[in-house]
Amino acid sequence: THDARAFLPRRGGIPAHRKAAAECRGCALHEHATQTVFGEGKASARLMLVGEEPGDREDTEGEPFVGPAGGLLRRAARDAGLDMKSAYVTNAVKHFKFEQAGPGKRRIHKPPSLREMTACRPWLEAELRIVAPEVVVALGATAAKSLLGHDFRVSHHRGEPLTAPVGTDATVVATLHPSAVLRSDNREQAYEGLVADLKVAGGLLH
Ligand code: URA
Repeated sequence: THDARAFLPRRGGIPAHRKAAAECRGCALHEHATQTVFGEGKASARLMLVGEEPGDREDTEGEPFVGPAGGLLRRAARDAGLDMKSAYVTNAVKHFKFEQAGPGKRRIHKPPSLREMTACRPWLEAELRIVAPEVVVALGATAAKSLLGHDFRVSHHRGEPLTAPVGTDATVVATLHPSAVLRSDNREQAYEGLVADLKVAGGLLH
């Protein structure tokens, strides 16, 4: 198998897809990850937030954005006037990819490869089809490339209302990943940039 398609259920909503995704073997990432981390939120959500992949905490807990990046994202959403609780939150890749120096050592996040992003895309496409959001926020380069094409550069087009070539009629707004804000030398400015982009997304909701 080289992508998720064979594992997608023929019908059903988010719960059926979450259940099927738990058994996905569409790429090799399931071999070392604890579990699939599927999206969370109501299928009626008008706003979808897409991250990169689960982190260490998400991998353990089985829910997206429950770690440090999630904390920052929630604060930024609140400062932007967005109601995160009514949003659907997911990732471009549904398994944690990491490097570990040895047993019991810290698991260091690794970004997904293009192959892994492509393999996992059918799950994101299914979420987009079922939720049919009005606005999608791509958090960071991985999400932005999954949604807008591999040549897309967040640095050139962040905060702009965009149309995705395939997969959704939603308006897409790309911004920094909250983890990039946490790593930034100029954290204050990076944070304000994230909030500003999230405000753009909020302003597009009807
Ligand atoms: N980073 C992500 O991209 N997604 C998560 O769910 C958590 C951290």
